[in-house]
Amino acid sequence: MTARGRFITFEGIDGAGKSTQIGFIDGWLRSRDIDVLLTREPGGTPIGEALRELILHRPMQPRTETLLMFAARCEHVLGVIEPALAAGRWVLCDRFTDATYAYQSGGRGLPEADVAVLERWVHESLQPDLTFLFDLAPELAAARLARAQRSDRFESEQRDFFARVREHYLARARAEPRRFVVVDTSQDKAVVQQHLAEAVGHWL
Ligand code: TMP
Repeated sequence: MTARGRFITFEGIDGAGKSTQIGFIDGWLRSRDIDVLLTREPGGTPIGEALRELILHRPMQPRTETLLMFAARCEHVLGVIEPALAAGRWVLCDRFTDATYAYQSGGRGLPEADVAVLERWVHESLQPDLTFLFDLAPELAAARLARAQRSDRFESEQRDFFARVREHYLARARAEPRRFVVVDTSQDKAVVQQHLAEAVGHWL
């Protein structure tokens, strides 16, 4: 029987440098002959990607936003993530349910209990094996985002929104220290990548 793959997720406020580092881990695992599936949320399926367009660019109520995140996640978990893990692949997912707690509950102010109900409904038995939280002060992240010159509905939020999102992420990391690896992305890129390689190496 094939051993189940690992489920690794990547989180952090917008502008924290997540995308660059995911590429590094993806390459690091592939160079060790690990069968990797790289995917993202919201997205990762045709329906998920269509919902992503709506979520990122159309104004909507916070509850609608939360329901659409979980609608996209439901397609993703059942259609992509679970089958890949069952086939022994390592799934690297750019954001997962920690993002809903941090953004929709922390940022938008929805009760955590409401997110927990949807979490149980959509993926009761699935949790990440490992979560990297890329942490950066909102001031520094905002400067990076300004350079990138993109702005969707989340990226154009104010500094205090991201301060709340960051606090929620850090609180989740403190509550589950065995699952989370918090990476300070204000450090030099080489230092960050060494930290990442050591943490993933632990799993091999
Ligand atoms: P990305 O730019 O990292 O791909 O993420 C898209 C945006 O969606 C990002 O600003 C965070 C937001 N988001 C949530 O608010 N809740 C969620 O559950 C997820 C997965 C993403």
